[in-house]
Amino acid sequence: MRTLEWLSETSELKMIDQRALPGELVWLRLSTHDEVISAIKDMTVRGAPAIGAAAAYGLALCAARSHAISSEGLLEELREAAKGLKAARPTAVNLAWAVDRVIAAVKKTAGEGGSVNEATLIEAERIADEDVAINERMAENGAALVQPGETIIHHCNTGALATVDWGTALGVIRKAHEQGKGIRVLVDETRPRLQGARLTAWELKHYGVPFDVISDNAAGSFLQRGEAQRVLVGADRVAANGDTANKIGTYMLALAAKDNDVPFHVVAPLSTIDLNTLTGDSIPIEERSQDEVLGLQVESKPIAPEGTTARNPAFDITPHSLITSIITEKGIAQPPYSQSLRGLKENSR
Ligand code: MRU
Repeated sequence: MRTLEWLSETSELKMIDQRALPGELVWLRLSTHDEVISAIKDMTVRGAPAIGAAAAYGLALCAARSHAISSEGLLEELREAAKGLKAARPTAVNLAWAVDRVIAAVKKTAGEGGSVNEATLIEAERIADEDVAINERMAENGAALVQPGETIIHHCNTGALATVDWGTALGVIRKAHEQGKGIRVLVDETRPRLQGARLTAWELKHYGVPFDVISDNAAGSFLQRGEAQRVLVGADRVAANGDTANKIGTYMLALAAKDNDVPFHVVAPLSTIDLNTLTGDSIPIEERSQDEVLGLQVESKPIAPEGTTARNPAFDITPHSLITSIITEKGIAQPPYSQSLRGLKENSR
């Protein structure tokens, strides 16, 4: 299921409205880069690789709607749009990576006297197509680690919805299932936005993978009782030393896995590995509205007294010491990550 698609007849970007799932599968058509910025902010589209690809297409929308009469004029509009797109969410490095990649490609084309408008779309399509191929390679690399009959704990949503197709950690799960490994998944519901219960469960149901949703705070107990043999998560940014930013709750899951000697793997494309960020301390953590925490109702009643305030960090940092390995499209990085990640990135150039 390709979750982002360019409609060439109308020059629009088609995407799933992830806020409507699992109740309804709603496809939206976006026609301006401002609409893409809003969609990233309000999590119509979410997941690190998906927001990167959506932002790249956002630049293609900017080019398609532009009235600029020169390449330099269009380049200036694209640079302005790029600023807004990159600022939409701060933690996932794929967003800035994809936007910078399109801008670099169009600058090169402009320098060679080519069409900036065409170059923008070509690079956006390339990013989206590569994402699908990279994810399938990562899925194969990761599935080789999965043993028959395992129960795997998974956090947040890292599937096709979080990418252009296949996904990262969920791609590994889907591949291992297709290989007939007879696996089962414990799906962390992932408070506060419930990406696990709403999105991962929806995808697993679609793929026919057996699963149970668990509340986030049950994961430690399943690990302690020997009811899960592996943990797979995605990443929004991996620092040069392997410290990993991912959905809030990942750190607690990694601690529980370590205490119970259960392998804990991060599955992430090389575009999520940011060698310019030396450690997790320098990764910006997005703090979202308290309404996401307090807005939940149980039996149509509020979950906290009126006037209650809440804190809502969207991501946390898992120290590299808790991570068994980092699965990428170019191979599996083992500790020490400051060497292995650099090696993988350099080999891919
Ligand atoms: O806030 P979200 O839903 O965008 O967070 C998503 C995650 O944390 C994912 O685990 C991460 O982006 C990797 S998904 C391929």
